Amino acid sequence: MLATHSIAEDILHLKQERGAVILAHLYQEPEIQELADAVGDSLELARKAKEFDGEVIAFCGVWFMAETAKVLNPTKTLVVPDREAGCSLVDACTAEQVRAFKRRHPDHVIVSYINTSVEVKAETDILCTSRNAVNVVNSIPAHKPILFLPDINLGNYVKKQTGRANMKIWQGTCIVHATFPARRLTAARTEHPDALVAAHPECPPDVLRMADFIGSTSAIIDWCVKAEADEFIVMTESGVRHMLEKRAPGKQFHFVPNENCNCSECPYMKRNTLEKLYASLRDLTPRVELTPEIMERALAPIERMLAVK
Ligand code: 13P
Ligand code: SF4
Repeated sequence: MLATHSIAEDILHLKQERGAVILAHLYQEPEIQELADAVGDSLELARKAKEFDGEVIAFCGVWFMAETAKVLNPTKTLVVPDREAGCSLVDACTAEQVRAFKRRHPDHVIVSYINTSVEVKAETDILCTSRNAVNVVNSIPAHKPILFLPDINLGNYVKKQTGRANMKIWQGTCIVHATFPARRLTAARTEHPDALVAAHPECPPDVLRMADFIGSTSAIIDWCVKAEADEFIVMTESGVRHMLEKRAPGKQFHFVPNENCNCSECPYMKRNTLEKLYASLRDLTPRVELTPEIMERALAPIERMLAVK
């Protein structure tokens, strides 16, 4: 079967047989994005996961995103093409560390970025993504102290935007965005003097200071599409190039290599391939399996986040 059809055709056939839906993050390879029923950033995909009827969701993104979708759809089967599609931010903060913080600071509201394990979410008061983090923090009464976790750059950005002095910030980083050096952005601006700069808030503060626009993955795409300029330096994962070029053909997009891989690709996101997507739909594994107790505890902070714009 695999020999006579293209892998993409086989996936679509299997998807129909399974009554499955494919969700893809904007950092996935173009061929995966093209097969998906919905493509988006982490907030859009969390919302989309609730909208579809399918029995099976193949989540082409990283594991914590699929866990979030599972919590929102406890009766559905959630698969991810590669079990090792993780995230350095998830690894930066464990549930036990959050419990220890809560024991020492019981008055703090715990605000967690969606890039956390489901166990950390279960210890959280309200979640956020890069798209709604400022609004989430603003939704918390001003007198309440906050712990924002786990991304230090997003946390500092949100603290600056909200003017919130009573906010502690965890020290985690994204291996992709946090290693974009300002000097490489400076060099890119010299090379492309007419280009505007768009950056994800996981980037370091000296990179953010040079940005004309700061926003989530989808917000960056929307801004570049609508902006009057024709040329952009895009300080995020280079998977967004596919959607940028699709929605704004004729505009030019430049990506800056980071100091982690000398590229701008997330090694976790890129573990997913069409072959692994096919196998995950065929075998229904790697599958997200969570206990009812953890799902119940993680649901409340996720729903609080979804209620904030
Ligand atoms: P978005 O919320 O912009 O999709 O970001 C997710 C992510 O992992 C960024 O590195
Ligand atoms: Fe995690 Fe960074 Fe990869 Fe996003 S780009 S999934 S934050 S490691």
